Amino acid sequence: MSNIVLIGAQWGDEGKGRITDLLSSRVEMVVRFQGGDNAGHTVILDKNEFKLHLVPSGILNPNAICVIGNGVVVNPMTLINELKDLESKQIKTDNLRISSNCHLIMPYHIALDSATENSLGPLKIGTTRKGIGPAYADKASRFGIRMCDLENPEIFKQKLINILKIKNAILEKVYSSETFEVEDIFNSYMKYAEILKKYVVDTAFLVNEAIDEGKSILFEGAQGTLLDIDHGTYPYVTSSSTTSGGVFTGSGIGPKRINNVIGITKAYCTRVGEGVFPTELFDKDGDYMRQRGNEYGTTTGRARRCGWFDCVIIRYAKMINNLDSMAITKLDVLTGLEKIKICTSYNMDGKIYDNVTPNCATLQKSKPIYIEAAGWEEDISDIKDFDKLPGNAKKYINILEELLNIPASMISIGPDRHQIIVKDNNLKSFLKMG
Ligand code: GDP
Ligand code: IMO
Ligand code: MG
Repeated sequence: MSNIVLIGAQWGDEGKGRITDLLSSRVEMVVRFQGGDNAGHTVILDKNEFKLHLVPSGILNPNAICVIGNGVVVNPMTLINELKDLESKQIKTDNLRISSNCHLIMPYHIALDSATENSLGPLKIGTTRKGIGPAYADKASRFGIRMCDLENPEIFKQKLINILKIKNAILEKVYSSETFEVEDIFNSYMKYAEILKKYVVDTAFLVNEAIDEGKSILFEGAQGTLLDIDHGTYPYVTSSSTTSGGVFTGSGIGPKRINNVIGITKAYCTRVGEGVFPTELFDKDGDYMRQRGNEYGTTTGRARRCGWFDCVIIRYAKMINNLDSMAITKLDVLTGLEKIKICTSYNMDGKIYDNVTPNCATLQKSKPIYIEAAGWEEDISDIKDFDKLPGNAKKYINILEELLNIPASMISIGPDRHQIIVKDNNLKSFLKMG
């Protein structure tokens, strides 16, 4: 079990934070390897809610070292505020480590993200406007500023002078937006550097040494498979590698270091932002999921679009990530529905497909083919054993396992840390749950 990857199998918000929190009690290190503060991972512990954006969700376990790997783009101000917030709730943050190779989100990235979205009109992506796309674009263009650049103020200032010439010209001439002053950014980022410097190290050495010493590591994905820059519903995606392949480049380890990949999926499906969503509901069942599941974005507060569970999407996630099992979350949200639909395959131009490449053009033409499972009325939010679930809830999980040919290792039945049914025996012993 030792080195585990947790990946969102849908369009994000599957419950990665709460599963990370659960498993982090049994690992020595938790690593974020991509994304930035577009992520919003919620952990509920004894009714206290923690919303984590950049800090790995393992931070609530005082024994785990929490690593922000080189693949993450860091907004230092958000990070400092998040650390302050955690400390105000008596959560120790000394265990945080930040890669010196992380690229920084700069104020002009945020301005450009918004300006681009505004200019796209109906073609907008619906980003979180946190500057993620522009920061990764600069990384690829080799214009990026990294955490390690802040250690050398002269180099940092020179880079800033060069970059701002270009960014200000774009902001002013293309978007008629406000521009930035070198000194303002320089002074703020020097202050951030002073606060963050105690956390900054070469995390690739740290993670590899921990593995060499036989320690257990958990890799916490952000976003989800269908938001992956290569494998998602491009261009309605984020700008990083959200799939299991991203672990290796985003933390600096080799592929043989991983033993287990778990895909997190809701018992239904949601999406925030624009882009195709074949099983999306516009009726009372979708509203029911939104209300019961409190489906409003952790980062932006936007209402999440809701729909039925889509096996075609999860089969794709299983292949791309090489999933060993699924963690199915929010089963309790479906309680009270008379019938629950499951999309087994798509009808495209009169032909039936179990597997498709989920690009926008294909998904737009795809009509979901559903089967119906019977619902249940009983409250399941305190159940500890799979066998104690109502018959129809068990059946629902078994149908998904059969349709996808992959086991459900965990099922969550409420947001709190203890509201989880661990079905897999290896995982039970890993978690020391008998
Ligand atoms: P993440 O981004 O994948 O970590 O997921 P989010 O935290 O953005 O969204 C998941 C939401 O569902 C959060 O508000 C969680 O508290 C909540 N949640 C997670 N698991 C369950 C569950 O089993 N049942 C219910 N009702 N809520 C859950
Ligand atoms: P977690 O980790 C859900 C979506 C945005 C938008 C697209 C691009 O909490 O699951 P970006 O700001 O990344 O350029 O936006 O990706 N998105 C998410 N949706 N959960 C997330 O993170 C997301 N992070 C980005 O809504 O559609
Ligand atoms: Mg989220």
